[in-house]
Amino acid sequence: MNQGSSTGTILEIRNLCVDYLTEKKPVRAVDRVNLTVKRGETLGLAGESGCGKSTLAFSILRLHKPPALIPEGEVIFNGEDILCMDEERLRRIRWNDISVVFQSAMNCLNPVVSIRDQMCDVILAHRNISKADAVAQAANLLERVGISPDRMNDYPHQFSGGMRQRVVIAIALALDPQMIIMDEPTTALDVVVEREIMAKLEELKHQFGFTILLITHDLSLLGEISDRIAIMYGGRIVELATSEQVILDPKHPYTNGLINSFPLLSGEKKVLSGISGFPVNLWDPPPGCYFAPRCEACMDICKRENPPLIEIEPGRQVACHLFPTPEGGAE
Ligand SMILES: Nc1ncnc2c1ncn2[C@@H]1O[C@H](COP(=O)(O)OP(=O)(O)OP(=O)(O)O)[C@@H](O)[C@H]1O
Ligand SMILES: [Mg+2]
Repeated sequence: MNQGSSTGTILEIRNLCVDYLTEKKPVRAVDRVNLTVKRGETLGLAGESGCGKSTLAFSILRLHKPPALIPEGEVIFNGEDILCMDEERLRRIRWNDISVVFQSAMNCLNPVVSIRDQMCDVILAHRNISKADAVAQAANLLERVGISPDRMNDYPHQFSGGMRQRVVIAIALALDPQMIIMDEPTTALDVVVEREIMAKLEELKHQFGFTILLITHDLSLLGEISDRIAIMYGGRIVELATSEQVILDPKHPYTNGLINSFPLLSGEKKVLSGISGFPVNLWDPPPGCYFAPRCEACMDICKRENPPLIEIEPGRQVACHLFPTPEGGAE
């Protein structure tokens, strides 16, 4: 496996901002995000639709396209800033070191190219090996994700949605990446197939030791498979903690609202309450905390000042005025 040291930080996002330069005015979809991904962990990223999860995922590998622009920030991968790398270095990192499974990726397979050729294309574009070896590798990858290599000459339409998504995951694993970013990898699938695919992914992760950044708004799924969960609201990270802490003892009122909007697969039955109001309009955000207009615990300061993300106990971060910055503490 293409791994460096087996501990420590693999990816550090520092002060990252992403704007969409719309005709009216710039929309800040990712707002000063600081996030560290530990080597070998599954880090979940959750939040309501439109909170900036995909924008953040795209910008990590500079896959964002105009009108998106990164005005500031750093994305440090194994000590190198991806945002400053030349195109050649970036090309090597994409797929080789970090691969991505995007939202609806299963629909992005080329309908007129066989699964075998699509897999070989990725392998041959990055590895100097013979076509026969690439085919053997593709067969092995399909087996890894639970698809018989006998099917490799088939075309995407001959596969079910779940199988196509497994193919996409196999392609993401093709170059033995250190890290996989998955943006809603199973959203279009029914819950049984979703759980099967995630179980397979867990198994592969234990076997090969890669790191996962898993984006979804399905908190019950994240609670089952993530080590830590980051919660995003209006382009900002508002809470980061272990998955158990987030699910069982959320600190931010928004996280609490999200948890109460979802039926969790384990634990006691509860009445779902949801979150009142609408997600923040990023074209016209309020001053102060973006969640303030929907927050039951809203105080005066919340309407004026944006609370910084602070460590409230070791490894646990929250951006909420209910947890004031310690005297002299850094933002
Ligand atoms: N091309 C674009 N032009 C202008 N604004 C955009 C564009 N793409 C996204 N946005 C805005 O950026 C914000 C973040 O969008 P993004 O797709 O990253 O959210 P998300 O959390 O991934 O949502 P979902 O859960 O629905 O996938 C949204 O408010 C969206 O309206
Ligand atoms: Mg998205």
